Amino acid sequence: DAKQKATAVNLSFREIPHSLDFEHHLPQEYSADILLRWGDPIDDNTAEFRPQALTAQSQLHRFGYNNDFIAFMPLAADIPAERGDLHYRSNNSTRGLLCVNHEYTQPHLMFPGYNNKYSATRGVSAEHVAIEQAACGHSVVEIARGDKGWQVILDSPYNRRITLTTAMQIRGPAAGDKRLQTAADPSGTRVLGTIGNCAGGKTPWGTVLIAEEGFGGAFQGAPDDIEDPREARNHRDFGISPHNRNLGDYDRRFDIQHEPNEPNRFGWMVEYDPYDPQSVPRKLTSLGRFEHEGFTLVCKPGQAVVAYGGDDDEHQFVYRYVSKDIYKPDDTAHNRQLLTEGTLYAARFGEDGSGQWLPLIVGQGPLIRENGFRSQADVLIDARRAAALMGATPMDRPEDVETNPHNDCTYVMLTKNKKRGKDAVDAANPRPRNTAGHVLEIVPPGSTGKRDHTSNHFRWQQFLLGGNPNAENPAERGAYGQQSHYNISSHGWFANPDNVAFDPRGNMWVATDGCERFGFHDGLWAMATEGPLRAAPKHFFGCPQGAEVCGPEFTPDGKTLFVAVQHPAEARNSTFSSPLHRWPDNDPNLPPRPSVLAIYRDDGGEVGR
Ligand code: FEO
Ligand code: CA
Ligand code: CA
Ligand code: CA
Repeated sequence: DAKQKATAVNLSFREIPHSLDFEHHLPQEYSADILLRWGDPIDDNTAEFRPQALTAQSQLHRFGYNNDFIAFMPLAADIPAERGDLHYRSNNSTRGLLCVNHEYTQPHLMFPGYNNKYSATRGVSAEHVAIEQAACGHSVVEIARGDKGWQVILDSPYNRRITLTTAMQIRGPAAGDKRLQTAADPSGTRVLGTIGNCAGGKTPWGTVLIAEEGFGGAFQGAPDDIEDPREARNHRDFGISPHNRNLGDYDRRFDIQHEPNEPNRFGWMVEYDPYDPQSVPRKLTSLGRFEHEGFTLVCKPGQAVVAYGGDDDEHQFVYRYVSKDIYKPDDTAHNRQLLTEGTLYAARFGEDGSGQWLPLIVGQGPLIRENGFRSQADVLIDARRAAALMGATPMDRPEDVETNPHNDCTYVMLTKNKKRGKDAVDAANPRPRNTAGHVLEIVPPGSTGKRDHTSNHFRWQQFLLGGNPNAENPAERGAYGQQSHYNISSHGWFANPDNVAFDPRGNMWVATDGCERFGFHDGLWAMATEGPLRAAPKHFFGCPQGAEVCGPEFTPDGKTLFVAVQHPAEARNSTFSSPLHRWPDNDPNLPPRPSVLAIYRDDGGEVGR
């Protein structure tokens, strides 16, 4: 019928095959420009990248390592620089700020001669650690599209790096709490830097949200030697151990025996204004503390702002935040406070397809002094424990959670959970030892466009199950499409959904992290969320071996798709001097480099169409 045709035309690109090699892959009628690579200068005072000559001081002026989340924030002519909300709403698709997370560093692929073994002889120095602190965090880079495609604007006043030493404020109910106070910051409101910056989000008032995910690995020390048992458990829960990287040897605040409260100042969402290069990023304690994948927003005029996010760890939870005040599209000063005061909830997924948001409020239910919750700060710092006590559903590693504006439903990427026992499966996490991951669909009450994301009740269903639809083991068998997998080709299936984006026509684009275990590269798969081809993916992009795909971000006109290729050539025994491959430069003098690509259709049309 007509609708089926419309959906098919909607994604008419020629699908690429599953494969595994040292290149990236696109449909024939598409091209990709390598836009930004680790080490590329982001100002016009910085020399071309030479890895042997890299210093911490120079890394501060260069694109960081392991690019992850990407936000394209439009820039429009004739709008005052500081009116980020107006720039954002201009939807300009030919000039903007590319705002990119740098999740973590891999010294064995960054430094010549670096010994990857965790031993006293591994060759680490204070300068290595300082370079790594400067190479993680976030970059803001102005880009513009001209005759030669997308170009970086090196003399832009907006270009900036945010690193593990950038000064930040702590805001919201936990700001200033005793558990956030340190010797260097007795106020508990000022912290240096951000780390583990995985995915994130954007706001219509022109700010960017960046997540702090795997921050525990930066901290060194023995949680068991911490006196307060609640704090010891807290640190243990985030993977802090004596065997972690030895950042603490060079920057003492990362040693928990020296500064036991420093980890409590990480694990938050961070909001900053890319349109003001002087803006001080703010850690938003109202969104809770856990291993944040990201938070994405639903903003409807005159209603509370709703934000959805995941905690990417085995058996952790899906969260929702509802602001106390309403969103007023024309009052940016007002909107900029919406993420500092509100209520955080965790999700319970019922066996019958019903669902409930459980508020995390001190004094309610089990969130009382006897359980270690003396204040709302305690609830937010220990959000995981609060959500578990409230009865939230432990999930198979929630990654991105994002709402499709076309049908007003919210999608949860669940990447995998090898730790789920066969007696611990439930309707929302139906597979024991889930190796392939799945995608859930949350349907808030109401009709499309008028769904009430602030309601504490919702319906939910499985959207797809990752994995091979022909797998012999039923627990590993993928399930796609409305009736069965017959709508997809042998290259349409994937595993381990991680990041997600929606194109301007409402198609879902899923980026994966883990397909090599199934014999092919990670990449991008696109699919409709409605109609006869709902949940029937087509394979669009494949990345070089060792890498996962992050980002995906469309320009507002849908004609450019930015992707971040993270940790290319990551493999056993792959090192700076002897890497698995040297993508994207393939230059014997350069190591493999995490890079952002700008993908476009050769005829200038919308990507995917
Ligand atoms: Fe950094 Fe959840 O992936
Ligand atoms: Ca990653
Ligand atoms: Ca992941
Ligand atoms: Ca991720």
